Amino acid sequence: MASMSFALNRFSGLASKTSLSADFDSSTRRSFLPPTRVGLKISSAAESEPDLSVTVNGLKMPNPFVIGSGPPGTNYTVMKRAFDEGWGAVIAKTVSLDASKVINVTPRYARLRTGSNGSAKADVIGWQNIELISDRPLETMLKEFKQLKKEYPDRILIASVMEEYNKTAWEELIDRVEQTGVDALEINFSCPHGMPERRMGAAVGQDCALLDEVCGWINAKATVPVWAKMTPNITDITEPARVSLKSGCEGIAAINTIMSVMGIDMKTLRPEPCVEGYSTPGGYSYKAVRPIALAKVMSIAKMMKSEFSGNDYSLSGIGGVETGYDAAEFILLGSNTVQVCTGVMMHGYGHVKTLCAELQDFMRQHNFSTIEDFRGLGIRCSTLQHTRT
Ligand SMILES: Cc1cc2nc3c(=O)[nH]c(=O)nc-3n(C[C@H](O)[C@H](O)[C@H](O)COP(=O)(O)O)c2cc1C
Repeated sequence: MASMSFALNRFSGLASKTSLSADFDSSTRRSFLPPTRVGLKISSAAESEPDLSVTVNGLKMPNPFVIGSGPPGTNYTVMKRAFDEGWGAVIAKTVSLDASKVINVTPRYARLRTGSNGSAKADVIGWQNIELISDRPLETMLKEFKQLKKEYPDRILIASVMEEYNKTAWEELIDRVEQTGVDALEINFSCPHGMPERRMGAAVGQDCALLDEVCGWINAKATVPVWAKMTPNITDITEPARVSLKSGCEGIAAINTIMSVMGIDMKTLRPEPCVEGYSTPGGYSYKAVRPIALAKVMSIAKMMKSEFSGNDYSLSGIGGVETGYDAAEFILLGSNTVQVCTGVMMHGYGHVKTLCAELQDFMRQHNFSTIEDFRGLGIRCSTLQHTRT
């Protein structure tokens, strides 16, 4: 019951969020239910371009493409670049109160390539990282968030946050981050390798009782929309998603990376990546994970449709997006926005233009004018019996 009251508080308090977010527009809240219209419109050459703009939890974005938390949102310079190139929103690299506790090692990435001999010339299809959250001082990151919001007041900047199992610490972090003027918060309940010994990241996202308690603290404090980022490294991803929404979060983001061991070096006989002879499983991303991500997003979307429809809950699809057509798949499953992380590391910030053009091409092919015209259409009839009854 306590968690329910957090949810009510946040929704009833949404009107007051206008002062914190220049782009907040509570009148644009939409139902999660997808429209039923499919390809009924007749297109003509004179018709205007498909409209990619979306409004998610009251946040207006020029397109649904969001920079996923990670290296593409490490600092002011790269986040500014993302806005200049036209990304719909930027989620910064995850921050915590004390960056001095974070030690990022090198090398921390490993690649899976096509072809059996692992030739360095073959295409990269999968990416593993053992990167932790931001190791830059919080004060520096906060200054940069503030500067970005000053320069881009009408663009959406989302802070990704993670803290230890400590109510006061979470409250302080949320307060300090919100003071910079960020538009929303994404809570990293999902980093697979960081830092379970401090009850952070996936250690919370994999434990629904802990998640409920921590979400309660966060939602009682936050005054901007909160997205809970889910780990796929759990038997049933709908369980933490349900707990997060019941505890007052406005949105779910899924998925973070998949626990993986990229391979064993045949010369050193040690797992990759290897740092001074030591290794640890990491997080798997990029296009090889997309089918798994789509399945996780589909189960969350179906759960949200049956249990949370009628409110402005949002879903941000993540995992292996490289083309606008990949993004269309996530939107067809109910995603309001689509995040890209490794794809930006591979193709650069200007890739958003290709993503937008490809998504518009898909929309033109089906005579869709807006994202809402096709969002969720893919889960209308996704229940297939595996056995005859
Ligand atoms: C090098 C690297 C660092 C990442 N760091 C973070 C992070 O700090 N916080 C977070 O929530 N997700 C982090 N992620 C996960 C991504 O945001 C995303 O959920 C995941 O990589 C799947 O999307 P992709 O296939 O588009 O990369 C990181 C991913 C990579 C590859």
